[in-house]
Amino acid sequence: MTKHQSISSKDPLHIIGGQASKHQRFWKNRRVFLTGHSGFKGSWLSVWLISMGARVTGYALKSPTNPSLFELLNIKKDMKSITADIRDLNRLKKEMKKARPDIVIHMAAQPIVRVSYKNPPETFETNVIGTVNLFEAVRACKSVRVVLNITTDKVYENKEVDKAYKEGECLGGYDPYSASKACSEIVTASYRDSFFNPKDYKIHKVSVASARAGNVIGGGDWASDRLVPDFVRAVLSGGKIEIRNPGATRPWQHVLDPLNGYLMLCEKLYNNGPKYTGAWNIGPDLKDCKSVGWIAQRFCEFWGSSKTCSIQKGKHPHEAHFLKLDNTKAKKQLGWYPKWDINEAISRVVEWTKAYEAGVSVREVCERQIGDFEA
Ligand SMILES: NC(=O)c1ccc[n+]([C@@H]2O[C@H](COP(=O)([O-])OP(=O)(O)OC[C@H]3O[C@@H](n4cnc5c(N)ncnc54)[C@H](O)[C@@H]3O)[C@@H](O)[C@H]2O)c1
Repeated sequence: MTKHQSISSKDPLHIIGGQASKHQRFWKNRRVFLTGHSGFKGSWLSVWLISMGARVTGYALKSPTNPSLFELLNIKKDMKSITADIRDLNRLKKEMKKARPDIVIHMAAQPIVRVSYKNPPETFETNVIGTVNLFEAVRACKSVRVVLNITTDKVYENKEVDKAYKEGECLGGYDPYSASKACSEIVTASYRDSFFNPKDYKIHKVSVASARAGNVIGGGDWASDRLVPDFVRAVLSGGKIEIRNPGATRPWQHVLDPLNGYLMLCEKLYNNGPKYTGAWNIGPDLKDCKSVGWIAQRFCEFWGSSKTCSIQKGKHPHEAHFLKLDNTKAKKQLGWYPKWDINEAISRVVEWTKAYEAGVSVREVCERQIGDFEA
């Protein structure tokens, strides 16, 4: 096998733990329309859905990074991958109708805070008008039963106090990215109330929810201006590790934890309808809300690197200092809980990256980690 060549499985359920669970059976042959499938979270979710036998149609621009997890996984042949813009409403409507999905998961976004400072109009167009377009396409597509919009921990009005935000708290957003995602939440609530109201569920049969995850880490993220991808680049290239805000705390979690929450939520929305509509915090436990400096040090320890971090000089645009999510609702009502704590999450990123460095198939590594997670 050549370096980074991927394997394809004839019996995917076998890979992730032998007998199919109820959860895996739900997804088998399920038609899913996933926007943003070529990105970091979208690639992981695509590989997970494919491994359970779902019929996935992805709709996104080309992968935003080089290297690209989506390309390395070589999953295009196991799904329908459409390269198109979420701002192109006609194309989106046409492709969604063609795909006849049961479930729509919306991840396509401009997700980087610093990019949003550089290009606010594009961030708002993609994240806000993109969400409007998604719901317009859903209105025109009669097969859809579930819509899940993926937003973020940054949608809350940040009071810069050390507290965890609950779903009912005020939305806000200092930087354009956070504000655009809060707007995306408001768009979601408006379409739910106006067109997919739980009171009229028997008529429209569509359940709408949004999920707010924390700061996600995992193998294969090469985004610029994100802490863990910056480390990975530094350790792989022998470069310097520089951090901006060592004291800033974030709700860190491994990518498989929020994805598991999204899958559980979609299942509940599909099976129980309006009971599960609304917003859900899918964040880590509070003990895993750590500072950037703590994460940096732990990453170096797990990597076995003697590197030290330096603080990036210069003036940086505003970023929140405290950020925590209260995940009580998801635990109590969905039965979801974080499975991998922050140490496990960092060690899985290190494991993934070392395997990538050694030339192991990244698809194999992702599928193995999904199997371990499900077990
Ligand atoms: N990574 C995190 O830590 C994190 C945390 C909370 C929420 N989120 C949210 O999760 C989602 C996925 O994030 P990610 O980290 O995988 O981001 P990513 O940048 O890796 O992927 C973004 C995806 O959106 C697509 N996209 C961007 N602009 C588009 C457009 N105009 N039309 C169509 N597709 C477009 C890209 O092609 C890509 O597939 C985003 O909505 C993001 O806001 C991410």
